[in-house]
Amino acid sequence: MHKKNLVSGMRPTGELHIGHYLGVLRNWVELQNSSKYNCFFFVADWHSLTTKYERTEDLQKNIIEVTRDFVASGLDPQKSTIYVQSAIPEIAELHLLLSMVTPNNWAERDPTLKDLVRALAHGKTSEQDVQNENGILSYGMLGYPILQTSDILTFRASLVPVGKDQVAHIEISRDIARRFNNIFGCDFFPEPKALLTETPTVKGTDGGKMSKSFNNDIKISAGEEETLKQVKSMITDSQRIKKSDPGSTERCEVPFPYYKIFADNQQVERVKRECESAVRGCFDCKKQLAEIMNDRFKEIRIRRKSFNDDEILNILKEGNEIARIKAQNNLKEVRKIIKLHNWN
Ligand code: TRP
Ligand code: SF4
Repeated sequence: MHKKNLVSGMRPTGELHIGHYLGVLRNWVELQNSSKYNCFFFVADWHSLTTKYERTEDLQKNIIEVTRDFVASGLDPQKSTIYVQSAIPEIAELHLLLSMVTPNNWAERDPTLKDLVRALAHGKTSEQDVQNENGILSYGMLGYPILQTSDILTFRASLVPVGKDQVAHIEISRDIARRFNNIFGCDFFPEPKALLTETPTVKGTDGGKMSKSFNNDIKISAGEEETLKQVKSMITDSQRIKKSDPGSTERCEVPFPYYKIFADNQQVERVKRECESAVRGCFDCKKQLAEIMNDRFKEIRIRRKSFNDDEILNILKEGNEIARIKAQNNLKEVRKIIKLHNWN
């Protein structure tokens, strides 16, 4: 049977945290290993320019670190095509062509884009300068969902594994694919669907949303000591002052929810019992949690260290080549459909 194409990408924000692992990477690896799809996973470096156009000094390093986290987490270049967006100029060409058939207000109305702009403008994420000092919202930023559509349609992908926050973008992608097919009387592009996964949201150590910019994240790459230190800084039940006070796992802000993610049911029950009867103190409870987490990430961290920069670059180079050939073939068709000449 003909396998469907599946595409997803991530912006190169630097070393990824365990929230990225649980929310995204783990799911990608599962999809890859199901062997049901032709999987394309990429680093969205152009997308990172929508907000960070002025600060690109870490861009290359970040691309390598993100890719290292991809492969350490289990993405396998033998099974998936792993590449960098900017190595595939056809994506930019398709972005241009799709921009011709996309009404301006489809992008302007995109609630995900509005949220992103608002959050970024208020310094709520690491990329604080989506609206730079002059308050300018760039043309490129407005094109964010159209560029994302091009990422997907360049490979004629019909499935896009993403979180809830990306659904509005994918709706636009469906609309653009449909509009293109209608205008040119073809069915070249599939109407891509978001493949939503219900994953637990991991809180940051301070109980807020986990984010590099809040300094409350635990990196996939963190060592055992570092993990322990961060787990120790987690806020617990604020009403529990002394170990002899019975705790409440409901009030426990961070460690207990983590137990629910990382420990088995029996262990979770035990923590609850011992916490509520004051047998267990927060200090020991956190120490144990750090051990469980270190155990969970042990292999990934070993694997992470086993690739040097050149090996990571080679993985990308090979992936880029494979992706490029597919993109070139598809763009040839697109030009034909639009009645543009294929000059080469
Ligand atoms: N916008 C996505 C995010 O911030 C990243 C992304 C870019 C993407 N292009 C994509 C995801 C194409 C899926 C498909 O997470
Ligand atoms: Fe949370 Fe554990 Fe402390 Fe109970 S003992 S409040 S579960 S950290």
